[in-house]
Amino acid sequence: MQKSTGCGDKPDRLIPGTLLLRIPFHSVRNDPISVISTGAERQRGGVEKSLYADWCHHNATASHSGADSPLTFAIPQLFIKRMPLPFARFARYYDRFMERYVDYPEWVDYVERIFRRFRRQPKKLLDLACGTGIPTVLFARRGYQVIGIDRSAEMLAVLEAKKGSLPITVINADIRKFTLDTPVDAAISLYDSINYLLTPEELERCFICVHRALVPGGLFVFDLNTVYGLEKQWGSRTITRENEEIISIWQCRFDRQTMLSTLRLVFWEKLPDGTTGEKYEEIHQERAYTTDEVRQALERAGFSRCRFFHHGTFLPVSPFSVRMMVVAEKPRRHPMPDLQSPGKKLK
Ligand SMILES: C[S@@+](CC[C@H](N)C(=O)[O-])C[C@H]1O[C@@H](n2cnc3c(N)ncnc32)[C@H](O)[C@@H]1O
Repeated sequence: MQKSTGCGDKPDRLIPGTLLLRIPFHSVRNDPISVISTGAERQRGGVEKSLYADWCHHNATASHSGADSPLTFAIPQLFIKRMPLPFARFARYYDRFMERYVDYPEWVDYVERIFRRFRRQPKKLLDLACGTGIPTVLFARRGYQVIGIDRSAEMLAVLEAKKGSLPITVINADIRKFTLDTPVDAAISLYDSINYLLTPEELERCFICVHRALVPGGLFVFDLNTVYGLEKQWGSRTITRENEEIISIWQCRFDRQTMLSTLRLVFWEKLPDGTTGEKYEEIHQERAYTTDEVRQALERAGFSRCRFFHHGTFLPVSPFSVRMMVVAEKPRRHPMPDLQSPGKKLK
């Protein structure tokens, strides 16, 4: 696996703002959420816990309106960033879990239909935020040379283990700051990965890296959960999901102000004796973007002819589309240089 040198010279910026979370006051100790509740206890003259100082330092606020009512916390994004990266624990279950919910071969067919519709025959593909590489492997089996980039070492380890002799290069990097040695003909990113970029600035930083990685005329194809999808379909609800390996609880909350959907994923491995093993927990955040926001970020990064489709079709995105497919082109030629600008002489 290659390690990226990265193309961004700035350190990761913290995301401004906070996330509001409401949790039951009597939550279980020793998980990240309940560590926060000890902060509130201290505010009320209760137990002191070391994380409180950190938490307080970053201007979190908490309120508690009664013994049995939930606590409302403003949790700094920094706190969430300190938790293990999403997918660290879930990686080993990801493939078998996802195969129940996503028809990846059909999704790859759809991407190939997009290539044909836009009259492209790419050979070298970049799979952004490829994760365990379910689509990466499918594309490689269909004859493409694929570079897969992801920041999760755990997800990439799964891809490394199954790629065999397929023409796949794996790079452990952040999609907001990467460079490739040689350009690719097309870039793709599937299954919500771009929603994991949490601000329009992050979106633009990623798009600039993709633009730089593409040949002139290269195509960028990616899907996104829509605002409707994150707000209404995922919304603020709790569901349980189970397969042969794990039992999981998916607790979502959508915040219209920040457009962030926060998912608290708790899961237990099933043991052969019928009991459950250790409890794991991850916090995932996805940001909902309007088509205008995505178009602006793409155009600022240098892409043109941006199209938005109701996912799986070539129909426009409707107010009830839960997922959209975005297609953008890197122009074949750079824009004409500005001959009027200082320093440029007309012959
Ligand atoms: C829902 S998974 C999708 C994985 C894969 N594309 C698929 O279709 O199965 C989202 C992936 O995005 C990756 N990811 C999120 N933010 C990232 C970032 N800033 N840089 C690199 N990878 C990122 C995660 O590690 C994870 O593997």
